Amino acid sequence: MDRLEKAIEKARAERATVNPSLMNPSLSGAAALARGAAPAFNGRSTPVFAPPSPSGDEPDEAQMERNRVVAHHTRSPEADIYRQLRTQVLHIMNKEGWRSLAITSPNYGDGKTTVALNLGISIALDLKQTVMLVDLDLRKPAMHRYLGLNPTVGLTDYLVKGVPLTDCLTRPPFERLNTLPAGSALDNSSELLASPRMIALAHELKTRYPDRLIIYDMPPVLNQDDPIAFLPQVDAVLVVVRDGVTRSDDLKRCLANLAAANVIGTVLNVCQ
Ligand SMILES: Nc1ncnc2c1ncn2[C@@H]1O[C@H](COP(=O)(O)OP(=O)(O)O)[C@@H](O)[C@H]1O
Ligand SMILES: [Mg+2]
Repeated sequence: MDRLEKAIEKARAERATVNPSLMNPSLSGAAALARGAAPAFNGRSTPVFAPPSPSGDEPDEAQMERNRVVAHHTRSPEADIYRQLRTQVLHIMNKEGWRSLAITSPNYGDGKTTVALNLGISIALDLKQTVMLVDLDLRKPAMHRYLGLNPTVGLTDYLVKGVPLTDCLTRPPFERLNTLPAGSALDNSSELLASPRMIALAHELKTRYPDRLIIYDMPPVLNQDDPIAFLPQVDAVLVVVRDGVTRSDDLKRCLANLAAANVIGTVLNVCQ
């Protein structure tokens, strides 16, 4: 057990609010996720795309590979790991009747966006579930860049300028996957994420289609108060920690800040 896993174990033991039976499987999946993420693509894996969307948005496969967006590949160890994570997450979400999941971490660079995209794509390819991926890192949006897409409007334009939501959605050509970009970057994002318009949108996204899972790619917990302001709107939270980088003190503070949320597990992201 490495020092980070020990820290997670300790933090878990110290937090009575976390259900240990839910932490264990995600933790083991996370460790595997990290190890599987290391190999470069070797030609054995095959991208699976739906036909290009009518809007002409097509993901840039090279850009996705550079950014470790790999869950759509077949016969790929990395994609297999995301499928395991998918199974664990869906098991918990479906059992609890939960529809929205926030992915956060202590700091920037831990792998939140990478995990959110791969998990979202993996779930969307599961044939039963539709997924809406929402970029809530309004100060440092990255989700669409990792897909090689350049949307001109997004969530902040909907919230601040009244741009219709349908104009803000992008449709990467994965079946059953929709994405909502962050839109124009701004600094007062905590106020915006706690605004009545955002709360109404979160409710609408969650309740309109019963078979749709909403995944929020969040900002980090320790750098600003955005995630905490928004968390009352989500059913569950997945915490990403970066092996060899995330300090155990930071993880403890992060989990303490999330004490009121349903933390369903921790993804240990090991990068090489
Ligand atoms: N398992 C991994 N292996 C290699 N690189 C990774 C891995 N996970 C994330 N990265 C890279 O690390 C950087 C930060 O990841 P990102 O998902 O943007 O973090 P965050 O959203 O937490 O700020 C990105 O360049 C991403 O491609
Ligand atoms: Mg990010």
